[in-house]
Amino acid sequence: MLNNFRHHLYTDFVFGKDAEKSVGKELKKLGATKVLIMHDSGKFLYDTGLLDAIKKYITDEGMAVVELGGVLPNPRLSLVRKGIELAKAEGVDFILAIGGGSTIDTCKAVGMGCCYDGDVWDLAVDRSKVKKMLPLGVVLTYPATGSESSTGAVISNDDGEFKIKTSMGGDMCRPTIAFENPELTYTLPKYLTACGVCDMYVHILERYFSPVNFGSMDYMAEGLLRALIDFGPKVLAEPDNYEYRSEIMWIGTIAHNNTVGVGRPQDWCTHGLGHEISAMYDTAHGATLTIVGPHWMQYVYKDNIARFARYAREVYRIDEADDEKAALAGIEATKEFYKKMGLPTSFKEAGLPTDGIEHMAHQAAAIKPNGVMGCMKQLHEEDNLAIYKLSIE
Ligand code: NZQ
Ligand code: ZN
Repeated sequence: MLNNFRHHLYTDFVFGKDAEKSVGKELKKLGATKVLIMHDSGKFLYDTGLLDAIKKYITDEGMAVVELGGVLPNPRLSLVRKGIELAKAEGVDFILAIGGGSTIDTCKAVGMGCCYDGDVWDLAVDRSKVKKMLPLGVVLTYPATGSESSTGAVISNDDGEFKIKTSMGGDMCRPTIAFENPELTYTLPKYLTACGVCDMYVHILERYFSPVNFGSMDYMAEGLLRALIDFGPKVLAEPDNYEYRSEIMWIGTIAHNNTVGVGRPQDWCTHGLGHEISAMYDTAHGATLTIVGPHWMQYVYKDNIARFARYAREVYRIDEADDEKAALAGIEATKEFYKKMGLPTSFKEAGLPTDGIEHMAHQAAAIKPNGVMGCMKQLHEEDNLAIYKLSIE
C-alpha cells in the first residue's frame, strides 16, 4: 500500500523543436527583470551560437542579463558562493541554467543561497533550513540527471583535502520552467549520451527497487526501463535522430521527477556509493552508477528475490521459472546493457585505482543519518565496503 503523498510537479515544460526560442517571452511573463545566466563555458555553447542566441531572446524582451560560466562536472561549492555574491550584488530576480545537471544544480544552490542569510553549505548540512529559492529556468542541453524538474541539487564541497559530495534542496527547488529541445542534444558525444541514459535508468531503479509494489507505478517503471534499453543503443548509433533524442530527453525528466516513486520507500544506495567515486576521482556521474550498480544488485538480491525475479522477467523478458536463476539473469542482463552502452561495470574497466575504497565506504555512511542507507537492504559502512570490493573486477 502507498503512503499518503502530495506531488506538486511545479515545473512548466516547453518541449520540442525551437523550445528555447520562447525563453525571453516566457521569462518576461514570469516577471523576470534581471536574469543571471549560468553555464559551463562548454565549447558547444559557442560553436552552436546557443549562448548568444539565448542572451538575445532575453534582452530583446527588455530584460537585463548577467552571466557566469565555468561550472565544472560534479559542480563545486566555490562557484556557488561566487554566483551568490554576483546575484546579490547585481540584484537579479531570476536565474537561468543553460546546460546539464551540474549547471542546473549550481543554479539551484545559488538560488537557495540568495534567499538565505548564512553560508550556503549550511543548507546541505541541514536540509530543513532550505525555505526558498530564486525562480529558476532551465535550457536543457544534456538529458541525464532530471534536475530540470527534480527537487535536489548535488554539490561538491571543495574546501578540504577530500571533496564531500552531497545534495541539498526540497520541494521548492524544482525549476519554474524548463525548455527541452531534443535538437540541442545532437552535439553530445557518445560517452556523455550513454552516461545520461544510464543515469536515468538508475533513477528509475532506485524507485522500482522498493519493498512496496504498486501496479501502475511498477508497470510505468518497467516500461520506461524497456524504452531505455530500446532507444539507448539506437541513439548512440544515430545521434541526430530527433525521435530517439526526444525519447531519451523526456524519459530523463520523468525518471527523476518522482512520477514512479511517490508514496513508497526508495533505495538510493547506488547513488550513495556512486557519489563517492565522483567525489574522489571526478568520474562522470552516470559511469559511477554502472560501476557499482550491478554489484549492489548482487549484494542485495538474496533479501529480495521475488522483486529481482520480476525485474528480470518484465524488463528483460527472461523466461526462467526459478526465481533465483531469473534474478541472477536480470542482474547479468543489466550489466550487459551498461556494457552495450559503452560504460564500465567495474573499477578495473573504468581504469580507476581502488586504494580509496575504505575512505569512500566510510564517507558514504558518514553523510547519511545514523550512517545507514537503502530500503532493499540497509547498508552500513561495512556493507558499502563489501560492495566496492565486489565492484573492483
Ligand atoms: O563543457 P563541455 O565539454 O561542453 O561538456 C559539457 C559538460 O561538461 C557537456 N554537455 C552538456 N550539454 C552538451 C554537452 N556537450 C555537447 N553538447 C551538449 N548539448 O556535458 C558535460 C557534463 O555535464 P554535466 O552537467 O556535468 O552532466 P550531468 O547532467 O550528468 O550532471 C551531473 C551532475 O548532476 C548530479 C550528479 O551527481 C553530477 O554532479 N546529479 C543531480 C541530480 C539532481 N539534481 O536531481 C540527480 C542525479 O542523480 C545526479 O546526482
Ligand atoms: Zn543520478
